[in-house]
Amino acid sequence: KVFDVVVVGSCMTDLVSKAPRLPKAGETIHGHKFFIGFGGKGANQCIQAARLGVKTAMVCKVGKDFFGDNYIQNFKDNGVHTEFVKQSSDAVTGAASITVDDAGENAIVIVAGANMLLGAEELQEALPAISHTKVLVCQLEISPQTSLQAMCMARDNKVKTIFNPAPAIPDLDPDFYRVSDVFCCNESEAELLTGTSVASVEEAHRAGQKLLKRGCGSVIVTLGPQGCVVLKGGEPTLKHVPAPEVTAVDTTGAGDSFIGALAFYMANHPHMPLEEMARRANLVAGVSVREIGTQTSFPYRRDLPNEYFQE
Ligand code: RIB
Ligand code: NA
Repeated sequence: KVFDVVVVGSCMTDLVSKAPRLPKAGETIHGHKFFIGFGGKGANQCIQAARLGVKTAMVCKVGKDFFGDNYIQNFKDNGVHTEFVKQSSDAVTGAASITVDDAGENAIVIVAGANMLLGAEELQEALPAISHTKVLVCQLEISPQTSLQAMCMARDNKVKTIFNPAPAIPDLDPDFYRVSDVFCCNESEAELLTGTSVASVEEAHRAGQKLLKRGCGSVIVTLGPQGCVVLKGGEPTLKHVPAPEVTAVDTTGAGDSFIGALAFYMANHPHMPLEEMARRANLVAGVSVREIGTQTSFPYRRDLPNEYFQE
């Protein structure tokens, strides 16, 4: 294989404000910090995998603007292959307006812009990467049809797929389940997709079983500080993986750090049990919540204990 992890997904410029609390509708409040960062779920996941030391490529679209140029440089700085990062003059680079409160909670508005122009043509061009990678990862910040098509292309070439249905949509095409080797979502996405409450480990198990029945190979439902549950097709046992205890400064992008790390383990340690991959991915994501920002807080291999990388 040419690549370990290929991500077909989004890039966003994150415009982040820190404030004591999230504003209410119609309200203006004073914040105490502002910064611009590189974000977008797809790119975040790709960058986390790259930082753990695997060969990655990103398939995405940014605008022909200052933010898009900068983003391409960011991929290069992180060692991500950029041949399939396209620039369009028909839309602006995606942007995310993020507010983070003192408790580390966030609220996000995304304007996908150029991300929505990634389509069949670009996927066809990227086929050499999509078909020659160990793992393909998709999310929902680009057109869902593009994500689904990329997953189908990967499947046709016996490439392992991870699907992260984020941000969740209520009318998700059922084919997504059938082409997912690992379907990985958080509690609120699981709630939206199953129509049931997912607040506890118990409820996450039940929601996970529902999702599994729709045809995915395995399901992971992440539960923030409660860790995650792992369900494997054909295996009746339910597995709960607790999370390390951390004081969260900013949980934005923690889910992306988790998925990126999971993709790393699937590519680099394909025979490791999925619950062990999830346990280690939780540890990696746990590091990311200790610092502000998304990619700025994602650890590199050199920052992590050696045992995270042993068989
Ligand atoms: O998952 C976190 C990401 O969601 C942020 O980087 C922001 O860009 C939004 O897409
Ligand atoms: Na963080």
